[in-house]
Amino acid sequence: MTQSPGQGNALDNLLTESRTFPPSDEFAAQANAQPALYEEAKADREAFWAKQAERLHWETKWDQVLDWSGAPFAKWFVGGKLNVAYNCVDRHVESGHGEQVAIHWEGEPGDSRAITYAELQREVSKAANALTSLGIGAEDRVAIYMPMVPEAIFAMLACARVGALHNVVFGGFSAEALRTRIQDSEARLVITTDGQYRRGNPAPLKPAVDEAVAGAPSVEKVIVVKRTDTEVAWTDKDVWWHELVDSQSDQHTPEAFDSEHPLFILYTSGTTGKPKGILHTSGGYLTQASYTHNYVFDLKPDTDVYWCTADIGWVTGHSYIVYGPLSNRVTQVVYEGTPNTPNEGRHWDIVEKYGVSIYYTAPTLIRTFMKWGADIPAKHDLSSLRVLGSVGEPINPEAWIWYRENIGGGKAPIVDTWWQTETGAIMISPLPGVVSTKPGSAQRPLPGIGAKVVNDEGVEVPHGGGGYLVLDEPWPSMLRGIWGDEERYRDTYWSRFKDQGFYFAGDGAKYDNDGDIWLLGRVDDVMNVSGHRISTTEVESALVSHPTVAEAAVVGASDETTGQGIVAFVILRGGAGADAGGAEAIKALRDHVAKEIGPIAKPRQIMVVPELPKTRSGKIMRRLLRDVAENRTVGDVTTLADSSVMDLISAGLQSGK
Ligand code: WT7
Repeated sequence: MTQSPGQGNALDNLLTESRTFPPSDEFAAQANAQPALYEEAKADREAFWAKQAERLHWETKWDQVLDWSGAPFAKWFVGGKLNVAYNCVDRHVESGHGEQVAIHWEGEPGDSRAITYAELQREVSKAANALTSLGIGAEDRVAIYMPMVPEAIFAMLACARVGALHNVVFGGFSAEALRTRIQDSEARLVITTDGQYRRGNPAPLKPAVDEAVAGAPSVEKVIVVKRTDTEVAWTDKDVWWHELVDSQSDQHTPEAFDSEHPLFILYTSGTTGKPKGILHTSGGYLTQASYTHNYVFDLKPDTDVYWCTADIGWVTGHSYIVYGPLSNRVTQVVYEGTPNTPNEGRHWDIVEKYGVSIYYTAPTLIRTFMKWGADIPAKHDLSSLRVLGSVGEPINPEAWIWYRENIGGGKAPIVDTWWQTETGAIMISPLPGVVSTKPGSAQRPLPGIGAKVVNDEGVEVPHGGGGYLVLDEPWPSMLRGIWGDEERYRDTYWSRFKDQGFYFAGDGAKYDNDGDIWLLGRVDDVMNVSGHRISTTEVESALVSHPTVAEAAVVGASDETTGQGIVAFVILRGGAGADAGGAEAIKALRDHVAKEIGPIAKPRQIMVVPELPKTRSGKIMRRLLRDVAENRTVGDVTTLADSSVMDLISAGLQSGK
């Protein structure tokens, strides 16, 4: 069989995929999920969610499960009060599990630390006291810009404990991206590190914070964790974590907050240049994070060792490293570094070392492992693995089968989990032990979740038909809005199918003949690069902010490893100079994008062109540029204002310009 990972041509294979893998009797017998869960949720959805909310400790019980009267702004578990951090930490100590390891932290250089629930309680309490000592309390915003060190998790939980909202910004984002996120959320505090390990070397992190904070007057203090011991410039806003936090009392009484108390803001790319601050609240979010983590991963808190390879800078890290797992009293691995440091077997070394039994990662990494070769995992004992997960983009059947055979020993069920920053938790996924899995399909909405594939008119398509994915019922962990922009919230998600009241996810999808759902990628101008959302407009704005660029158009072209790769077409300014299109200048442009947004947004390829294809109304026809970027014959050009433009572009590219 030829292997064709990547999105474009894999789609056809995807839709003709007919292999299924029923759960083994052995797995089904011990599974947390049972077929009756679907029936139960269908019979009475709100009663079902109320039962799931009982997984948590509520200081005051709610008096209404769902208030949807202010749609599209939901309220879940109305009148209930809880403390999210107490639910993730203290209650496990109180139930006698203080000595259980919560986090097996593995540093990239090989240092490690086992943190028990009792220790986690002390660390989070100290950090919470430190926040209080700085005057940070309920509803304040705290930006967290850190690598995967334990303090990042302590910081998130400390915020939750005192009712402050964290705004975690991925450590790979630029100073400029950090600044806009700090400014939009008006953060009073930033928590960071001196540096971070990346591919075996320490790299500075704090300079980006200094640069961002210089342009963000809302910031009063910056707490700095010492990680790499690199020299840092010091300002009067800065305070070392070890000086401030370590001297605090390790006792802290958590306060219960309203179920709808805001928990965090997390920025994600939309179709415009400005990222959206997705707002999540407490009770409903934690209920669904906890419920999904328990059933989708079949978690057994006494015996499993769980590992989610995401970074806390993304929603996966929020819901499936911090809130879901810890609320379920997990023992989990948290790894700081890259998968090929010091060599390409690092993940399998870690699986062996800790006896990891549940492993959750992204298709882009699976395809990277495929490229590195099956002989690498084959050299390791991976027999502890019993559930495998995938998230972030459609997983092509070849990668799915490779994952099952080479990592899962041909038997661990694979859960392909579809969800978004906005949904807060998993929405569509097979339940292991119940559903026969299918390579490439996320299959069906979880019990309690309503999802459909509809056509342009909002009518559900028949089996075998394709259209848009919508969510037709409110769900507990749904976003409660976009920070500071109610209109954008309504426009982005609720206007497309306003009459039906559906949430528009922005993804294309299809039913197969069994009625299982296949996700087909974004239908808007959002690219998916290694499972990360980047908008074409964001990269275009970064490019045109460079003095040599007059105009830019960006497309996501299918990429063997990363799903999509960023390809940019730029028109240079008249006075840009003769060598502005040369290799050096192109490199400078790529670096400029990295500086504006972050290295993940660096275009894979930049092509200098004399014109861009536009419709008569001036809209760039990205479809045609995608044809060029993917080396296809250019499609229908009849709606172009000037149909000769594509010839000009192709000719220019062939002459190697
Ligand atoms: C977008 C959301 C959810 C955490 C990671 C990404 C795509 C996500 C899948 C999947 C097909 C998927 C969608 C979605 N996506 N999971 N299992 N199959 N596509 O979160 O950055 O908010 O991106 O990722 O296009 O809309 P995000």
